[in-house]
Amino acid sequence: MICEINDRIVDIQTHTGRGSWACRAASDNRGPLSHHTLDMTTLGTPLSPNATKVMLLGSGELGKEVLIALQRLGVETIAVDRYENAPGQQVAHHARTITMSDPAQLKALVEAERPMLVVPEIEAIATSMLEELEAAGTVRVIPTARAARLTMDREGIRRLAAETLGLPTSPYQFCDSLAELQAAIDGVNGKPGIGYPCIVKPVMSSSGKGQSKIDGPAGVQKAWDYAMAGGRVSHGRVIVEGFIDFDYEITQLTVRSVGADGNIVTSFCDPIGHIQVSGDYVESWQPMAMHPAALERAREVSKAVTDNLGGQGLFGVELFVKSDQVWFSEVSPRPHDTGLVTLCTQHQSEFELHARAILGLPVDTSLRNPGASAVIYGGVEAQGIVFDGVEEALRVPNTDLRLFGKPESFTKRRMGVALARATDTDTARTNAKLAASKVKPRAV
Ligand SMILES: Nc1ncnc2c1ncn2[C@@H]1O[C@H](COP(=O)(O)OP(=O)(O)OP(=O)(O)O)[C@@H](O)[C@H]1O
Ligand SMILES: [Mg+2]
Repeated sequence: MICEINDRIVDIQTHTGRGSWACRAASDNRGPLSHHTLDMTTLGTPLSPNATKVMLLGSGELGKEVLIALQRLGVETIAVDRYENAPGQQVAHHARTITMSDPAQLKALVEAERPMLVVPEIEAIATSMLEELEAAGTVRVIPTARAARLTMDREGIRRLAAETLGLPTSPYQFCDSLAELQAAIDGVNGKPGIGYPCIVKPVMSSSGKGQSKIDGPAGVQKAWDYAMAGGRVSHGRVIVEGFIDFDYEITQLTVRSVGADGNIVTSFCDPIGHIQVSGDYVESWQPMAMHPAALERAREVSKAVTDNLGGQGLFGVELFVKSDQVWFSEVSPRPHDTGLVTLCTQHQSEFELHARAILGLPVDTSLRNPGASAVIYGGVEAQGIVFDGVEEALRVPNTDLRLFGKPESFTKRRMGVALARATDTDTARTNAKLAASKVKPRAV
């Protein structure tokens, strides 16, 4: 069998049966796992000594669906999050609550549980510890520990895409102070600046937190202050990007799985179109109709990035498109929120594709029917909320709902999603939005 280790394809001997990598018992403390044997096609029985154990680091709504997909294959699951009763913890065999950005806590948990795979679902993880554990052969990280590190903040992945791989991105600069930000926009020593309009984002943030557009000099201070307040880790670094006046943006779901010959194969889902409000996704649909040249370019860019990141699993490559021009924006080495739509459009959702790919199983990325998703926000700040109008929502033709079960609601917290399938994406979008609007979260 051919396997990929640390971005290199190497030949190894196929090894199956009880001694194989997939069959190591949870309680087995014989030192490092044989991480060179990536034959995962033998699956065990959960809660038995030969269980195939997978640990999710982050157990939100996306992790919950990955966990359900793993459960269906009889995988023993450990759902980790920073708070109790996170969505994924409600559907896993085991729930653990730790600070995942704390290297000592992360190491202690991985060593205690000894999962075969560690699957990051969020960015805020002590990725240097994951690299250490992977290097020691203690665990395999999905897709790789290096990919988790490079994508944990905007800098690693942006420099890789733009500077190492030479892919088209927005013009950008990283800044550590308000003065540096102003200089990056204005330009220094004859070097042209980013100019206006531009976008400022904390290097570590997601879902648009701390992100704002600057239209002129009056907005610089405000954007800096907003980024400082909204960043996930307060290290005061931002990226300023030139504003791309795109026609539309897509997520190109890209899967690296093991093919019949044992080599890694890359497959693509149909492109997903989406709309973001304040940097957060509110609506997505699949397929997004694209100019063939733009689609080809989108896939070239996605292949280049995912080839470099390596490993096995599904990636969400975010791209901006104008006519046949494509810019790389960012990539998640895991299922993407806009890909929730695949729960109603594909034979295998992005979550099933991820579960299969990481276990070394074959994947089918084909579209079943067009569809759309629309986000349901909490609208209230309260714990243990209730949802009125679910019945009305589900009376909208060909719709479905996911209510994530988050213990606490915030006004702008994503609490659920409405899904609609149709013969065309316009109808699907209308119905998904209608169904979402019928669901009324309420504090009790
Ligand atoms: N340079 C840019 N030009 C134009 N629009 C942009 C630019 N950068 C970001 N945006 C818009 O803001 C959205 C969010 O940006 P980005 O993906 O970088 O933030 P994020 O916080 O990582 O969001 P998420 O976690 O939801 O992916 C983009 O999807 C796009 O709509
Ligand atoms: Mg994004």
